[in-house]
Amino acid sequence: MPTDITIQEIASHVGQTVRLKGWLYAKTGKGKLQFLRLRDGSGIIQAVAFRPELGEEKFNLIKELGQESSLIVTGSVRQDERAPGVPGGYELSVTDVEVLQNVVGYPITPKEHGVEFLMQNRHLWIRSSQQWAILRVRAVVKRAIIDFLDSRGFLNIDTPIITPSAAEGTSTLFTVDYFEEEAYLAQTGQLYNEANIMAFSKVYCFGPTFRAEKSKTRRHLAEFWMVEPEIAFCDLDGLMELEEQFVSAVVQTALQKCRPELQLLERDLTALERVQAPFPRISYDEAIERVQAIRDATDDPELKELLAIEWGDDFGSPHETELTRQFDRPVFVYGYPSAVKAFYMEPWPGRPEVCKSVDLLAPEGYGEIIGGSERMSDPQLLVSAIERHQLPLQHYQWYVDLRQYGSVPHSGFGLGLERTVAWICGIHHVRETSPYPRTLKWMYP
Ligand code: 4AD
Ligand code: MG
Repeated sequence: MPTDITIQEIASHVGQTVRLKGWLYAKTGKGKLQFLRLRDGSGIIQAVAFRPELGEEKFNLIKELGQESSLIVTGSVRQDERAPGVPGGYELSVTDVEVLQNVVGYPITPKEHGVEFLMQNRHLWIRSSQQWAILRVRAVVKRAIIDFLDSRGFLNIDTPIITPSAAEGTSTLFTVDYFEEEAYLAQTGQLYNEANIMAFSKVYCFGPTFRAEKSKTRRHLAEFWMVEPEIAFCDLDGLMELEEQFVSAVVQTALQKCRPELQLLERDLTALERVQAPFPRISYDEAIERVQAIRDATDDPELKELLAIEWGDDFGSPHETELTRQFDRPVFVYGYPSAVKAFYMEPWPGRPEVCKSVDLLAPEGYGEIIGGSERMSDPQLLVSAIERHQLPLQHYQWYVDLRQYGSVPHSGFGLGLERTVAWICGIHHVRETSPYPRTLKWMYP
């Protein structure tokens, strides 16, 4: 009896007869040979059917199979360096085949399809090798994030998804009818994390996050996953140190565990190998000067217009894209004007118009993957910030309380999973890093 195995276990079955259960990804052939690309969810392998070996009837059955037919294939495993697949280097010589369903007219063919069509068929598109590879990388990145934080003594505490108040600006709130009271989907778990560190010292939440983003950029989703570590007794420098170790560890783990997937995606692996702490740190002031210099130097009138910026403005995607092209690893930009950041950030000592915020921008034009800051620790200062932002104080009373009962300097950050995976995979748009992306335009399937 052949052993049932999965493709990812193939390396330990060379020379044996095995059975694989999966789907036909592609097929070519001529004369007495048929080459099947078989996928089983764990990998992709080439299976070779040879008419004299398989017999007329089974060989003809294979010849008729359409893309995405479901099958059980028996064969012997051969090692062959040139064999394509994930993991590459192995091939199956087919000795038997059982067809569960022969498919006619699978809509996603190897030809190029438009993104509209592919998004409409997202439930099928995830079977395509690139999408499959991206979502596998996503799973590994998620695990690497959790492993890193757990190993550093962080406690995972979940924060609510239905909340009474805004934390990251009122323009991107999704409202919920909460028993006839207006509530919102969480934009962040941060405010709750700040309560949690006073009980547990180092915590993180990691879950779905919602922003009613009206923007159509390649970086914005309406639903995305964010991991948010928060640390008591930590200042801005301590935060940057943690972030660079965290991001380096996550990228190096992805490189180590997802090499075949990243190769399938044709990712430049040397760019990822360079992602090692420490990362360069520049002030917002310097970043503005750098962007202005790029703007002044360009001959492209369109780019010149896109890069228009003055001190006090927030960076948009084009600014971040051009700025990060100057670095070969992620770069910290710290000390933004308080006016463009959330209400809870600690002012810069002696420069109240600036705050102790830090964004981490990924290289190769990817831009912001982390937003974070040292938090305001003084209760009076916090109350005036809440009032200045015209937020209803009664919803934040519990948050002010934290500054009244054992306030300490503390800091934290949020890393967007989809933007991080897009950068690691080297793909253009974040929508492909989410199994079922929610954007201004898409909520189906
Ligand atoms: O910079 P943001 O808005 O920061 C916060 O929410 C803080 N409360 C985090 C904290 O300090 N605990 O968001 C953090 C990150 C961004 O850098 C980005 O990677 C991701 O979340 N992000 C988005 N990703 C996809 N689509 C969107 N609409 C996103 N908005 C933010
Ligand atoms: Mg931000």
